[in-house]
Amino acid sequence: MKRVVLLHLLIMPLLLCLAKAEDLVNDPNYKARCKVCHGANAEGKPQMKIPALKTRADRNEAELTKAIEDGNPTSTPKMPTFKDKLTAEDIKTLVAEIKALK
Ligand code: HEC
Repeated sequence: MKRVVLLHLLIMPLLLCLAKAEDLVNDPNYKARCKVCHGANAEGKPQMKIPALKTRADRNEAELTKAIEDGNPTSTPKMPTFKDKLTAEDIKTLVAEIKALK
């Protein structure tokens, strides 16, 4: 039993690093909170200045985390803040999934 728990602790972070390109759009948090703006395939809405997330896959973890936590209150439309709506773990997963888009 103990071994199973240990195995999970070892494998979970590994899975996060190995996020695949299709993971983002299948993430329940993406579907519930991001899809409405960034699109079913994360293609964005260029005519509304909502970026395709693939174009942000090169950003580092800190930049992406901040972008999701704080949003951009000055853009039109606004990128909302998610630090009160998602857990740090959820955001970390989204960041790994965005990075996997490149
Ligand atoms: C209300 C529409 C809306 C929703 C919902 C939304 N976004 Fe955005 N997002 C935007 C807009 C608009 C921008 C462009 C902001 C800018 O120009 O700086 C953006 C930009 C971004 C960027 C790039 C930030 C940068 O610095 O370039 C990331 C990453 C991102 N969104 C991720 C997400 C994630 C993940 C979610 C869901 C948790 C989400 N967005 C939900 C509208 C939205």
